[in-house]
Parts: sequence; structure tokens; C-alpha cells
Amino acid sequence: MTGANAPKAANDGVYHLQLKPGDVPGYVILPGAPERATLIAKRWTGVRELASYREFKTVTGEYDGMKLAATSTGIGGPSSEICLHELNVLGVHTCIRVGTTGSITPRFDLGDLIIPVACVRRDGTSTSYVGPEFPAFADTQVVLALAQACEKLGFRYGLGLACTVGSFYIGQGRPLGEGGYWPSFAERIIPDLRQARVTNLEMETAAQYVVGYLHGMRMGAVLSVIANRPLNRWGDEGGEEKACLAACEAMKILEQGQTPGSVSLRFNTSREGVRANA
Ligand code: URA
Repeated sequence: MTGANAPKAANDGVYHLQLKPGDVPGYVILPGAPERATLIAKRWTGVRELASYREFKTVTGEYDGMKLAATSTGIGGPSSEICLHELNVLGVHTCIRVGTTGSITPRFDLGDLIIPVACVRRDGTSTSYVGPEFPAFADTQVVLALAQACEKLGFRYGLGLACTVGSFYIGQGRPLGEGGYWPSFAERIIPDLRQARVTNLEMETAAQYVVGYLHGMRMGAVLSVIANRPLNRWGDEGGEEKACLAACEAMKILEQGQTPGSVSLRFNTSREGVRANA
């Protein structure tokens, strides 16, 4: 029998991830989808799948000599909260979310990478932890490492201000179809966020930044643009694989304590604000 406050899995591991201390290293990449955990590990050696339960799949291995793990969080804030808390119990200290996003600005097109420095909190989960005035923000070292990784790899990327929403359809201003529910406020969602110079919409990062920060963890994210909302276009354009690789490289930079003075990290306010190094 286990206690109701901190239930245990049948293998005596943390309940949802089904992992025990020592199973994963301190550096963990967080895809949303379980199959993306496998994609991330494609470039690793000695890959082992440790657990797979509901949306949570964990693989470990080595990237360029560094021990890494990838654990999928599932979609949205609630499953992200579960994942981050249980990883923290296991001693994890640094996490990078790898996900997809919808751009609402001409700065970012399909296949570009966005590194959110902060998020508008419409995730619905982080308010269980702290009031709405509390910020959701990335760890500076993780942002620097991600930017340096993108520079090194020659990927198009930029820093962004994301809006994390606990809804994919109405909450992100997507009509439900002919005659479907379409309240007047939904029409204003994207134009109002654009006025506030928000760059993109997605579903997990704010909850992860807040919960991770409150657990004393270093958090960051790299999101590939799969939707261009102003142009109504959808497609991966190689972005998912680039985001996976950028996250692995960034972890390596962080492990080696090599975050840069060399990368110029201004929050680029111009309409041309994507750094192109290809
Ligand atoms: N994920 C989201 O939440 N929204 C998008 O438009 C694309 C990916």
C-alpha cells in the first residue's frame, strides 16, 4: 500500500513516470508526444526505453558522450505538472521542452524555431500553484544555450513571447466549423495577442516554466513552427527534427558550462527578427 499524497507505481517508482531515483540523469528533454521521445533519441547511442505509461514515455541514452533522457509530457498543463513534479522527485534539475507551435507573427514561418523567453499564462494549470500576476519565464542559461545551439547548427530561430493556452480550438481562435460555437471574444484572441507583440500559441510551456521554477529547476523550450496562423498554413518543414537536435546540443552546452558571451541575444523587435544562419 502507498500513501495518497505521493502514490507509488507497482515497481515502487514515482506513480505516473514509473521511474526510480537513479534511472534518469539530471538533464531531461521534454517532448509532448511519446513518439517524439523516440525521435529525439535517434541520434543517441545506448538507447533504452525505461517506461511507458499513458502519455509518459521515458528513454535514456548518450548524446555525444553525455547522458540524457527524454520524457514525454502529453498535451497541456495538467500532464506537464505531473511530469515535472515527478522528475524533480527523481533529482532532475534541467529540462528543455521540445514542441510545436503556431506562429501569429510574420517574424516566424513554418519550420522556424522559437525559443520562448516568457509566456502569457492561459494554461489553466499554473494558477493552481501561484496567482495570475506571477510570471512564466525561462532560465537565462537555458535560453543562451538554445540560442548558441541554433547558431552552431545554422537553424533559423528567434526569441519569442509565447501564449500558452489550455485549448487548441476556441482558445487559440480556431473556429469549430460551419454553425459551430463561435463567441465574439474568440474573434479577438489573435489580433489582441498580436497587438501585445506575442509571437506564438502553444499548450504546455507556461505550466512547465512556472512549475519547474517553483521546484528550483532550470527550464527552457524550443518550439518548431507547424502553423502559420496569419497565412493559414500548416506543415512541419523539417522543424520538429531541428528542434530535437537543438535541444540535445543545448544540453551539451549546459553540461559543459559553456553558455556564451559570444551570442548576441537582443530581444529582436524588428519585423525581420529571425536570425538566418543557413
Ligand atoms: N500547437 C498548438 O498548440 N497550436 C498550434 O497552432 C500548433 C501547435
